[in-house]
Amino acid sequence: VVLGIDLGTSAVKVSAVSPTGEVVAQASEAYPLNNPQPGYYEQDPIDWTNATIAAIHTLLSTEIAPGEVYGISFSGQMHSLVVLNQRREVIRPAILWNDTRSSEEAQWLNHEFGDKLIEITGNQALPGFTLTKLLWLARHETATYEQIAHIMLPKDYVRLQITDQIATDFSDAAGTLLFDLHTQQWSDVIIDRIKLKPEILPPLLAADAQAGTVTASFSDRTGLITGTPVFTGAADNAAGAIGAGVLNPDQGLVSIGTSGVVLKGEEQAGDYAGELQFEALGPNKRYYSMGVTLAAGYSLSWFKQTFAANMSFDELVALAETSIPGAHGLLFTPYIVGERTPHNDGHVRGSFIGIDSQHTLADFARAVFEGITYSLNDIFKIYEQAGTPIHQAVAIGGGAKSAFWLQLQADIFNVPVIQLANEQGPGMGAAVLAAVGLGWFGSVDEAAQSIVSQKATIPPESDAVSIYQQQYQRYTQIYANTKIL
Ligand code: XUL
Repeated sequence: VVLGIDLGTSAVKVSAVSPTGEVVAQASEAYPLNNPQPGYYEQDPIDWTNATIAAIHTLLSTEIAPGEVYGISFSGQMHSLVVLNQRREVIRPAILWNDTRSSEEAQWLNHEFGDKLIEITGNQALPGFTLTKLLWLARHETATYEQIAHIMLPKDYVRLQITDQIATDFSDAAGTLLFDLHTQQWSDVIIDRIKLKPEILPPLLAADAQAGTVTASFSDRTGLITGTPVFTGAADNAAGAIGAGVLNPDQGLVSIGTSGVVLKGEEQAGDYAGELQFEALGPNKRYYSMGVTLAAGYSLSWFKQTFAANMSFDELVALAETSIPGAHGLLFTPYIVGERTPHNDGHVRGSFIGIDSQHTLADFARAVFEGITYSLNDIFKIYEQAGTPIHQAVAIGGGAKSAFWLQLQADIFNVPVIQLANEQGPGMGAAVLAAVGLGWFGSVDEAAQSIVSQKATIPPESDAVSIYQQQYQRYTQIYANTKIL
């Protein structure tokens, strides 16, 4: 088997995957997501390592023998800034992708570079990107900034603990805003203009390239065999696309984790004038574009924890199903941490609109599912307006786990939604990258062809479609009336 380590925002999930794409064992460990003040989201990188060790330990002490593990790779939360000193020690908690404290720095970058930034990176500056967080540190925590000897992305930090070597891959590099999509190198233009020491940036490798081997000390901590090959891995959304075989522009992917993402493969480097993100896939010279809802699964877990703490996730779905399409007129906007696509607004906050004395908890639960999905529909609309509509979408992550949410997606997006047989979210992409790295497959396309299989295609139901279209029109009016001026 290969191990695919998916380092998410709420937990790490380690999947042991066979050469035929079968998940033979899996272990997951959660860690805290700290929210020290509104808009600030942080994690301790050491928690990621400890959770990864615990999950690997569980797998190796139960279902998998160390000798069966041929290779390891990663998918990881994007953009989050990890800073280390000369001794490679963490010097402050990681500032995460959903943290919007660096909105001013993003504005400054857009002003300073104008169109050049989009031309080079495919993106306008957003507070989600690593660079804006780094500039925030330079301004607000100067003493910490001056100690920085290395910056890296979350999966790169965990890989460093396993291999003792520093690297990142093209897909995570592209999410920093310091990467030139056209040359596939760190951008000298950006580095020079902001006076960054280039030596703090990790060396670049392809996602399927070998980035080291398991060290003796990591072997001691986990039971993995010293010398086991470790491959670079990719950003979670790139890995999501790879693991679901969504690699070309003819299909879309909808991935719901803490965030919600709608993406599609792209054949060449380009941009959507900053309206959507434009990213590198990981294996050399491949691309994808995407839009991001900051709080998709996060809105749901917030709702469950706040209003239905003693229900299981399945019970919450069942409750939402007892309401009707349109939740009896109740609307929810999932802007509970601000929003990325389409509003790029760190200050707006969420809302329930149209509360009636007859509304029940079931209506509220349903409105949350619907509101998250309307927010993803905003991204479908951007693709439509750009003249590159998504005609069908593969669902992965939380949105693929219940028949209810799959149907809701088909009805709100008004396209057929594909359910996969061996859906594992980005973790499957991580496993594929290790399998390709080991030479089990010639390319990620070949791997996808051989291991991805579709279970069902869910068509939109026309009655529901027209109800949701009306509700969505109302939904789109909420932002302008609730944003903080
Ligand atoms: C993508 C993004 C999120 C994270 C979640 O731009 O910010 O989807 O990758 O881990």
